[in-house]
Amino acid sequence: MKIVFFSTKSYDKIYFDKFNTQHNLTYFDAALNETTANLSVGFEAICAFVNDKLDKKTLDILSKNGVEVILLRCAGYNNVDIPAAVARGIKVFRVPSYSPQAVAEHTLALILTLNRKTHKAYNRVREFNFSLEHLVGFNLYGKTVGVIGTGNIGSAFCQIMVGLGCKVLAFDIVENQALIEKGVTFCSLDELLAQSDIVSLHCPLYGQTQHLINENTIAKMKDGVMLINTSRGGLLDTKAAIQALKVGKIGYLGIDVYEQEAAIFFKNDSENVMQDDVIARLMSFPNVLITGHQAFLTEEALGQIAAITLQNCSDFEANIKNKNEVLVY
Ligand code: NAI
Repeated sequence: MKIVFFSTKSYDKIYFDKFNTQHNLTYFDAALNETTANLSVGFEAICAFVNDKLDKKTLDILSKNGVEVILLRCAGYNNVDIPAAVARGIKVFRVPSYSPQAVAEHTLALILTLNRKTHKAYNRVREFNFSLEHLVGFNLYGKTVGVIGTGNIGSAFCQIMVGLGCKVLAFDIVENQALIEKGVTFCSLDELLAQSDIVSLHCPLYGQTQHLINENTIAKMKDGVMLINTSRGGLLDTKAAIQALKVGKIGYLGIDVYEQEAAIFFKNDSENVMQDDVIARLMSFPNVLITGHQAFLTEEALGQIAAITLQNCSDFEANIKNKNEVLVY
């Protein structure tokens, strides 16, 4: 099939070209939205990423241009109006699980960096400043970690934290029996928030989980809690987090995703004036660590993403039933 890629980065090309044997791939740097959707003329399939905007207006243009299938090269699909796509006869596929360990390990990286302040130590030592002042961290061993969402990534993360000797509490709408056998305790969201030294978000973003972490839920957390979000920005009410950081309620914040990331992530704006005052304020805190949606970015994950996305396309073309199709329930 002829597939057009939006929001392409160098690493996408490398891995898709490596794994492609039967499709015709065209890469565009542009993000997909109603303004750029006409780049799909002449293609039966489009391949999109997390911040491409597939709303009704974009889908209308894709449909008019004869696009038959949307191949998401990511797990989350909160950026696609799925009922609208289905109503226009366009099928949507995603990559539900490519390397949960990639995201789980990045979550640990955020925790360890915030805690042991290796980012500050790196900069100090480069200037021959070997002072240890303000670098005091805490042992993870014995601490309570609360995991919200125990699917593929949350489950991998729980197991890492159990391995480090943490007490792991979990909250999900479905309990994961395999995790219980590995020592994880499922409890209510309120119990998790009240008892955890570290809270990590791993559930998807949809209506019910929008701003799951807000002024009220933050108030239920321990004073000085470490909050980590590697899932989707919209799970966290960023302005409420800023207020909580200002008064020390949140002691550490690590995020790989941000509510308004579509306008700023995945590009180099270092020579421009930052227009987003909220992220600028976040960066002013010494106890906030932000990465730009890179938790998935490992060789293994990129290989899996390319292989599964291309297989999704082949299955669509051959009319083979495929569990990665996103359905409307
Ligand atoms: P998954 O579908 O395997 O697991 C999600 C879990 O969340 C399920 O167990 C589900 O029951 C649970 N859940 C749903 N609603 C809930 C609620 N209201 N409260 C608590 N739990 C709820 O998904 P997976 O692969 O573990 O991915 C999780 C999220 O991670 C994705 O939705 C995506 O947004 C994000 N992600 C972030 C990446 C990054 O690079 N930062 C990369 C890949 C995924």
